[in-house]
Amino acid sequence: MINLSHTRDWSVFNARDYLHEYYADIGSENLAILHFMVRALSEVSPDSVLLDFGGGPTVYSLIASANHAREIHFCDYLDTNLEQVRMWLECHPQAFNWTEFIKTTLVLEGNDYSKQGVCDRERKIRQRVTQVLHCDANLPQPIETDVDGYDVLVTNFCAESATDSVEQWRRFVTNITSLIKPGGRLIMSTLKGASSYGVGAESFPAVNIMEDDLMELLIDIGFNYNTVHIESVPADRPSRHYQGLMFVSAIKRT
Ligand SMILES: C[S@@+](CC[C@H](N)C(=O)[O-])C[C@H]1O[C@@H](n2cnc3c(N)ncnc32)[C@H](O)[C@@H]1O
Repeated sequence: MINLSHTRDWSVFNARDYLHEYYADIGSENLAILHFMVRALSEVSPDSVLLDFGGGPTVYSLIASANHAREIHFCDYLDTNLEQVRMWLECHPQAFNWTEFIKTTLVLEGNDYSKQGVCDRERKIRQRVTQVLHCDANLPQPIETDVDGYDVLVTNFCAESATDSVEQWRRFVTNITSLIKPGGRLIMSTLKGASSYGVGAESFPAVNIMEDDLMELLIDIGFNYNTVHIESVPADRPSRHYQGLMFVSAIKRT
């Protein structure tokens, strides 16, 4: 039975339940996310150092990223999520299967999506990811890194999916984006008009934000107005407790 009151206890976040709930197939939401990643990254230099912040137990955002970065750092708050990502990076037989996501990304990029094409991209991702780190968006310095400002920061469904407080969401995004160098790029996906999201029998809080909230915050924290692009798509299942997804790309002021 679904528990309708939200938990704040992250120790009950089950990484495999989350993967099965949201990444078991490529519906219109996941297709839109992959398409956004391909479009947003197409303008990024392959010489970039990229951080995936709050990547959870997923590697889908690394698929397109691997083609546009010489080095990728990955972080999440939960060890259980980092464990799932390490399993995939180490080709563990019980790792989650991302093959359909890789194939679809290759199709969207116009690249070879044969078995060999998929294997080549898997190898590239595994070569590019050099650090898997713990992070905490509550902290002014959310990760321990010697990188003095990332060229690109990707963060999907993290800040707004870790709280139901607008104030805390603003603080999370401020802390997360402080890791981007001046002139660097933010690539972010968020829930839109959310109240919560389910993971197995648990319900986690999400903040209720819309395009205007995002725009206002990004300008306040140092992104160049002319570079902020926001798109949205509707949720693809009526069972979801959010209206849709928003996709943001923005450049930090120099
Ligand atoms: C909805 S999941 C998103 C995971 C993944 N990025 C995706 O696209 O599916 C929310 C993520 O926020 C992370 N999280 C929760 N509290 C956090 C915090 N204080 N700092 C950073 N990440 C946090 C969780 O570990 C979880 O991986």
